[in-house]
Amino acid sequence: MLDIESLKAQFTAQFSGAPQLFSAPGRVNLIGEHTDYNEGFVLPMAIERRTYIAGRKNSTSRLRVKSLTLGETVEVDLARPGTPRRGSWVDFVEGTARALLDRKFPVVGSDLLLDSNVPHGAGLSASAALELALGIALVSLAGETDPDRVQLALAGQAAEHQYVGTLCGIMDQYIAALGERDAALLIDCRSLEPRRVPLRLGTARVLVCDTKVKHELSSSEYNVRRAECERGVSILSEALPGLRSLRDVSLADFTTHSSRLPDVIRRRCLHVVTENARTLAAAEALSEGELGRVGQLMMESHASLRDDYQVSCEELDVAAAVAAAQPGVYGSRMTGGGFGGCTVTLVEEGAVPQVEQAVKGAFLARGWREPELFATTACEGARRH
Ligand code: GLA
Repeated sequence: MLDIESLKAQFTAQFSGAPQLFSAPGRVNLIGEHTDYNEGFVLPMAIERRTYIAGRKNSTSRLRVKSLTLGETVEVDLARPGTPRRGSWVDFVEGTARALLDRKFPVVGSDLLLDSNVPHGAGLSASAALELALGIALVSLAGETDPDRVQLALAGQAAEHQYVGTLCGIMDQYIAALGERDAALLIDCRSLEPRRVPLRLGTARVLVCDTKVKHELSSSEYNVRRAECERGVSILSEALPGLRSLRDVSLADFTTHSSRLPDVIRRRCLHVVTENARTLAAAEALSEGELGRVGQLMMESHASLRDDYQVSCEELDVAAAVAAAQPGVYGSRMTGGGFGGCTVTLVEEGAVPQVEQAVKGAFLARGWREPELFATTACEGARRH
């Protein structure tokens, strides 16, 4: 946890007055990857790393936002029309504020001081943590004490689409908004209904491994994958009239009709169809405390992302395989969009040091940067402190 008292004191020194404090978490996805924009299922949890905001109304039409992690201040005048895609973090601030206003949330001129311990660019959704911390702070400072959290999440996603220029799904913003202590959420990305799945881990832990790599391909290939899924839906709908998304394709239907698809599209669709089934099965197994089964589904998810969806990379494959080979590990997989970022491993607490040593050793032996591993519990979503 960051030093909240120090953040408040720094706010007062910087802007004057006593601030209110807000925060929102990063996330790790246990399973259900690249299913959210196919209206399918995901099973993320909010992690202990958070973005904090100290803020206060300033009686002007301007947002003045200083980031302690970046050492920069940005300003947005709410009285003027917005400017999308300026290519800096002002896009997150302006995009979130405008998307909140579009959804009829109140937003007023405010001074905000940000600090965060969600690693940037590591695939733990530092962006969604920022959007949701901004969202809860801005609407609360403007007088809305119990905002609709799904709408806050949708505002964060709209900021990505319209201002930042990333065509993400809803998973990251949703879990940053609605995450719960000691539970993952099984999110139906069509209805936007959550189901709380208690983390019945016993003596096991959720271990995150940040590979510290981010390959160039990540955002362009993300959009390519989305388009490939849409193409699959369009071809399959010739045989399955009324088909709206891959969410509606059963494995049986897929097997019957997949010969219509070009090979690459067939593999992308196969991943999504099977990943949805794995995610539902993993939620069931997790709520029964059947960690062996959860781990097995995680490994199958990784293989499918690596071989059919093709969004993994060597570092993620090594991190997952080396972890999975250690005694006490139930399963390990890449998490998030891919092409770098993190893996998530389900492991007995006593085996954590051995996993850490083995993965670090494997990376150093290949001349790669040392990865960072940390265990995390599931935490609550965006909140006022
Ligand atoms: C990124 C996106 C999410 C989701 C994942 C892949 O994190 O922001 O919406 O699509 O990739 O599961």
